[in-house]
Amino acid sequence: MQRPTPPPIWDLPVRLFHGSLLPLVVTAWVSAEEGYMDVHAWCGYTVLTLVSCRILWGLVGSQNARFTTFVRGPRAIIAYLRGSEWSGEGHNPVGGWSVLLMLGLLLSQGMSGLFNADDISFSGPLAHLAGDFADDVHEWHEFNFNLLLAMVGVHIIAVLAYLRRGKNLILPMVTGGISGHGRAGTPTWLALLLLGACAALLWWLLSLSPRPPPFL
Ligand code: HEM
Ligand code: HEM
Repeated sequence: MQRPTPPPIWDLPVRLFHGSLLPLVVTAWVSAEEGYMDVHAWCGYTVLTLVSCRILWGLVGSQNARFTTFVRGPRAIIAYLRGSEWSGEGHNPVGGWSVLLMLGLLLSQGMSGLFNADDISFSGPLAHLAGDFADDVHEWHEFNFNLLLAMVGVHIIAVLAYLRRGKNLILPMVTGGISGHGRAGTPTWLALLLLGACAALLWWLLSLSPRPPPFL
């Protein structure tokens, strides 16, 4: 009898999610600088949808995608920082928290964008709710982006440092790798369903705004 194919370390939804972040964040950045605010908003809505879906996937996705697998307590973190050998195959105890931080920063960036407006012609669909806080929202959107950039910088340096020490984390994030624990993954169609639900929910919420995005 043929053996079942071993599941990947990173399932397809996690890899597609990760692969789309760099192009989306870079396009959002460039489009804001160049004043292509419709493109900017679309990138932002897509990031918001993807991050919401990734959070749900962290609850129901495959083993290594789950928060319960990679969000570890202080003892594991201290042991890891003291150099004790870590035998897991997903995010390490420190990496797990940095993933949470990056997801939080991406969410905060997208959410603050909804309430943000420029001084010329573009307003996020919820900008009318910002009221007296409009300037604070504007500043937060800018400051949060700098935090995100710094965090992504540290993230890439960390990944490259592992590569230099002979541990290639990038390849499994691209190809999936081969998991050693043998548990079957959560099916990809469920991620598609969650993605559709997150997109529909955001679409519906924005359509309630008195100034919905032009395409709604
Ligand atoms: C805007 C740019 C980026 C953002 C926001 C970002 C964010 C993230 C996030 C949120 C994760 C967790 C994935 C998950 O569990 O869903 C992750 C993992 C990972 N990222 Fe990135 N990333 C970015 C760019 C990059 C680049 C350019 C590389 C390659 C040099 C990279 C390499 C990796 C690797 C190898 C992992 C898995 C780390 C591990 O094994 O624990 N990332 N990244
Ligand atoms: C994760 C997604 C997003 C990223 C990475 C991002 C990034 C940025 C950046 C880098 C700027 C320029 C900051 C500055 O120098 O002032 C900016 C400005 C802005 N963003 Fe976003 N943003 C995102 C989501 C959104 C969303 C969803 C909206 C609204 C639909 C939005 C609306 C705005 C507005 C109105 C400005 C002000 C432009 C100006 O004053 O020139 N952003 N964003």
